[in-house]
Amino acid sequence: MKFFVDTANLDQIREAYSLGILDGVTTNPSLMAKEGIRGTNNIMQHYVDICNIVEGPVSAEVLSTDFDGMMREAEELAELHQHIVVKIPMVKDGIQAIKALSENGIKTNCTLVFSAGQAILAAKAGATYVSPFIGRIDDSGVDGLLLIEQIVRIYQNYAFETEVLAASIRNTLHIIKCAEIGADVVTSPLSSILGLLYHPLTDLGVAKFVEDSKKMI
Ligand code: G3P
Repeated sequence: MKFFVDTANLDQIREAYSLGILDGVTTNPSLMAKEGIRGTNNIMQHYVDICNIVEGPVSAEVLSTDFDGMMREAEELAELHQHIVVKIPMVKDGIQAIKALSENGIKTNCTLVFSAGQAILAAKAGATYVSPFIGRIDDSGVDGLLLIEQIVRIYQNYAFETEVLAASIRNTLHIIKCAEIGADVVTSPLSSILGLLYHPLTDLGVAKFVEDSKKMI
């Protein structure tokens, strides 16, 4: 399973990369705005900065929702760096754009996916990744992990090459459950990745070994 970090914060990306287990980064307009990135030049430079930290795919989202606008932005983003994957929203024009971009060899991440039907369309259009939003589905009172299971099963049935990128991860358990289900990628906040490290018995065990090691010297 690949680990992406879901942030536009350069310090968090550096910290995740320094762990040695980071495979990529996803961003979205909300995450970019949170970092105070404004203006086309600054936005583009920020994506380049992220690409220069990680050795893997970096999802950069288009802001347009019409076909021509998405294509124009996608081509500009793809020119920025070889790591760029263009994030396209799951709308009718978005599916058309994903199809055209995949035919032009530009990698895409179909975002804002909330149903199996949408995931089928993304795969048929040739998306590199599909991003179902687990946490936001959970927020609506439905188990978001059930959608991950359903999409993984459907993609296996037809050997679709689109990778299932579980997004809107809210906690460490989401990551573990996605691994059980067989999601190809999870993108999560750094805090949920770091949560995988902790177990109280490990902390107690380390403390005991450190204490006993003093008796050996
Ligand atoms: O980047 C897409 C997704 O991961 C957003 O997550 O927490 O805003 O639902 P969240």
